[in-house]
Formats: sequence, C-alpha cells, structure tokens
Amino acid sequence: NERTFIAVKPDGVQRRRVGEIVQRFEKKGFKLVGFKLMQASKELLREHYWEHRNRPFYNKLVSYMSSGPVVAMVWQGLDVVKTGRKMMGQTNPTNSLPGTFRGDFCVIMGKNVIHGSDSVESAQREISLWFKESELCEREGCSAKWIYE
Ligand code: GTP
Ligand code: MG
Repeated sequence: NERTFIAVKPDGVQRRRVGEIVQRFEKKGFKLVGFKLMQASKELLREHYWEHRNRPFYNKLVSYMSSGPVVAMVWQGLDVVKTGRKMMGQTNPTNSLPGTFRGDFCVIMGKNVIHGSDSVESAQREISLWFKESELCEREGCSAKWIYE
C-alpha cells in the first residue's frame, strides 16, 4: 500500500489542469486518499523543499509555490511513487516526453505544473508535512479486484 504526495502547483491550478491530472491518476488505477486546495505558507514550502535550501533557485522556488493555491493530494497503489514520477516527466519540461504532464502542459522548469515525491521516504515525509492523519481516507477501493491479481 505505497503512497505518494502529488501537488498541482499554482500555475497548474490557474491554468485549470487539476481535472486532467486527477483524471489520469484515476484512470491509471491509483486510489485517491487525500485531496485539498490550499494556499501553502512560505514556512511550509521551505520545509517541503528543504533539500534545496542551498541551491540558487530556492527562494524563487518558494515564491513560485506560494504565488497561488496548490492542490495537495495523496495517491495510493503499487509502485505509485515511481510511476507517479514517470507520469510527471523530467524536472525540465524540455526533456519531458509527450504523454507526461510536464511534456504536455508546460515549457520551463520554473513553472512545471506538478510536484511528485521522488522516493518512498520522501513521500512519507511530505505526506506527514502536508496532511493530518485524520485528513486521509483509507478505504477499500471497489475496483481493486479488477486492477490487481
Ligand atoms: P518537484 O516534484 O517539484 O520536487 O520537482 P523535481 O523533483 O522534478 O525537481 P527537484 O526536486 O530537483 O526541484 C524542485 C523544483 O525546483 C523543480 O520542479 C523546479 O520547479 C525547481 N527547479 C529545479 N532546478 C531548478 C533550476 O535549476 N532552476 C530553477 N529556476 N528552478 C529549478
Ligand atoms: Mg523533487
């Protein structure tokens, strides 16, 4: 029951890509267990992107991510972290294949529409940073027997 943290970044929300992003994760067979639209504080975002604190783009990244509301989500399923990263495409949209969110929806790294956890450990850290346990809805998916063997 692997989980990942996915966020539609402020540009993705403003450009109305939330529906399609949710739709593609649903179509794939992953289960939505957490979802909220929120204006993230700079404090939360600095913590979220802590690994990049010494990079030259850190402040710009935090400003970008706080420039409007984000949709924070938790998706669950087999290998969802790795598959989620594949669905996103590369960090730089120029290197992202068509069929990926970044390949299809954007052109620059500084406005690349979506975030996804890069490992199972990052996912656990990010989920507990963005969500309270009570905000996550664990449940039996009614289509699980048609998705898994
Ligand atoms: P996230 O899912 O957002 O974490 O992206 P990522 O895992 O593909 O990339 P990474 O964690 O390395 O970087 C986080 C975010 O910082 C990227 O998605 C970009 O928005 C931004 N970023 C990364 N590298 C650069 C850079 O060299 N310049 C600028 N301007 N932004 C960068
Ligand atoms: Mg990252």
